[in-house]
Amino acid sequence: MNTVLDVLPVGVFVLDREFRIVGINSLIELFFGVRRDEMLRRDKREFIFEHVATVVDNFPLFSERILSTYDENTYVQDILVHILPGGGREERWLSHYSKPILVGEHAGGRVEVYTDVTEQVEAEEHINWLSSHMLQLQEKEKKRIARDLHDELGQRIVAQKMGLENLANHLHRVDALRVEERLREMIRESDELSVEVQRISNDLMPSLLDPLGLDETLLWFKERMEDLYQLEVDYQQLGLGGCSLPKQLEVVIFRVVQEGLNNIVKHARASRVRLRIIYSYPKIVIAIQDDGVGFSCAAPRMGLGLRFMRQRVAEVGGTLRISSQPGQGATLRLEIPFYPDVQT
Ligand SMILES: Nc1ncnc2c1ncn2[C@@H]1O[C@H](COP(=O)(O)OP(=O)(O)OP(=O)(O)O)[C@@H](O)[C@H]1O
Ligand SMILES: [Mg+2]
Repeated sequence: MNTVLDVLPVGVFVLDREFRIVGINSLIELFFGVRRDEMLRRDKREFIFEHVATVVDNFPLFSERILSTYDENTYVQDILVHILPGGGREERWLSHYSKPILVGEHAGGRVEVYTDVTEQVEAEEHINWLSSHMLQLQEKEKKRIARDLHDELGQRIVAQKMGLENLANHLHRVDALRVEERLREMIRESDELSVEVQRISNDLMPSLLDPLGLDETLLWFKERMEDLYQLEVDYQQLGLGGCSLPKQLEVVIFRVVQEGLNNIVKHARASRVRLRIIYSYPKIVIAIQDDGVGFSCAAPRMGLGLRFMRQRVAEVGGTLRISSQPGQGATLRLEIPFYPDVQT
């Protein structure tokens, strides 16, 4: 029976009418980190107390619920079990489903099925985390925009208005040349203000994407990062020449590159960045590699940036891989599927 159970995609315990373990499979060994020869023929209740106490989260509740099915072996039970990492085990979420065996050799016993639902639980946690942080992030963004508008634009517009008032009040006493000079200064100031408005709105939405397209926008961004932060960005785009990408995809790629480069400036202390965007049907590969201090992927400190990056990429069906080691730079690699419309 045990070799047959091994082909199943779920972990299985078969208990006889004394609740001794008579059937078990390899996924149970993996999930609970215990070898089958340590479990076979054991009383399941003893096994739970001896081996499972440190394996599952909230053991008192777990043992109470499982043991109650042995006291009254008549009903189906369906609970979620959190397996803690350690002792060769990985952290997992398992759905426990058990029911009495009614016929055959082990009638009066019980069968317990453990299904690994870690991915679903993590996806749900991720969604909960995102929705609770979304509001927080929006507030942070609003404050930043308000500060930019107030400090950068507000102050300068007030200064310009005062200059104009001053000029209006003294117009009859100042000679024409001086008036022209002041007006030209103000025109220059207005130009600067309009650049500033553009900067703020670019930060809100990469509006350059519309007129310029992705490639030119990334070139502009690369140059801006190089000028501002003395960073050398080696940017190359291959294979996208003739394709026009959907706007949503362009925004995702731009935002990912933006966060990737912002992270490099903030954390990496790098001097060179290699940025590649390569379209090789059916996917676009984006690689951002720096020569900075790197970080430990084993214990990554996920901020909002990387989480939102993952989220954006998942929304367009893509994947994100981060590889880095302390002292050896970091690489972000994204793969996004893209099937261009066939032009007829
Ligand atoms: N290129 C990099 N080089 C070194 N460390 C990095 C790099 N990119 C990310 N990190 C590390 O990963 C962490 C998480 O990055 P993430 O973008 O998620 O958050 P953050 O930049 O700290 O904050 P924010 O929420 O503002 O983006 C960073 O705090 C940093 O420690
Ligand atoms: Mg960041």
